[in-house]
Amino acid sequence: DERKRVFSGIQPSGNLHLGNYLGALKNWVAIQEDYENYFCIVDLHALTVPQDPKVLREKIREVAAIYLAVGLDPEHCTIFRQSRVSEHTELAWLLNCIARFGELSRMTQFKDKSRKEGAESASVGLFDYPVLQAADILLYNAHLVPVGEDQRQHLELTRTLARRFNHLYGETFVVPEIMILETGARVMALDEPEEKMSKSSPRPASYVAILDEPDVIRRKIRRAVTDSGTEIVAAPEKPAITNLLQIYAAMTERKIPDIEAEYAGRGYGDFKKDLAEIVVEGLAPVRERALELLENPAELDELLESGAGRAREAARPNLHTAWARMGL
Ligand code: ADP
Ligand code: NA
Repeated sequence: DERKRVFSGIQPSGNLHLGNYLGALKNWVAIQEDYENYFCIVDLHALTVPQDPKVLREKIREVAAIYLAVGLDPEHCTIFRQSRVSEHTELAWLLNCIARFGELSRMTQFKDKSRKEGAESASVGLFDYPVLQAADILLYNAHLVPVGEDQRQHLELTRTLARRFNHLYGETFVVPEIMILETGARVMALDEPEEKMSKSSPRPASYVAILDEPDVIRRKIRRAVTDSGTEIVAAPEKPAITNLLQIYAAMTERKIPDIEAEYAGRGYGDFKKDLAEIVVEGLAPVRERALELLENPAELDELLESGAGRAREAARPNLHTAWARMGL
């Protein structure tokens, strides 16, 4: 297979949301036919913060259903669970031994996620998360990693670790490129536009979940905060309406100036009503298909099993090469 390889993943924690859809999933579907794809459900990453085992088990299937429902095609994509391909954790250990405490200490996501409890009580897994993520990607010698803007720093670390390994032990890993879309790569919370939309948020009003019912979506968008003034324009001092315009643009694949022109002289109410319908229409088929798929959990489990088999086949030789280069 001469095609370049793509790797990406989503954590099965909380509810997948519009940010995951616009920043990641939609892009994966758009490019899937041009690459050899590995789309992982990164369940080990989810364990870096407390999870209820029963809920986690359900969420894993839910992510699988959403992967298929958005249009990922198992003919083009290997869809699997991180925990079922032990090569991920094995390579993570090798990379742990060349990653530096200082560089992990500078990861802003760790600082953000550990702020509440303090770094002293954060799990070592949360601290080490970016190394496991590097292993996920390097294990497949992925060329491209389509992700949202929040992953930029982690991807830089992955590239650093690949180069460092190659320098220390000889050319082994592909140094991957990050692939970030122009619109939709950073969807902000609906109730707090300085914060990114996140599935770990305790405030359901802050995100539109991919599986939210249409009326719930309408209500959340109607209640989304707006800025002072009435004009529908994107501007740095208007983060709330800018975010809604970006969602509109990403959902419709239109340019923001076009949308601004269409709503010139009209109010937030009109704009939000239209945006709500656009989001409802875009997500409804995904939701319906995902719910259908979830009625047949055995089939989803089978898909994940066979995906893990294929992923292991691709991963094993690369892990063996890394062992050999390091003298193991
Ligand atoms: P979350 O941050 O919501 O817990 P993950 O860390 O599992 O989600 O990220 C899965 C993918 O979704 C990544 O590619 C990430 O960059 C992308 N993503 C997450 N939140 C957003 C957002 N608010 N806007 C755009 N992309 C996002
Ligand atoms: Na994230």
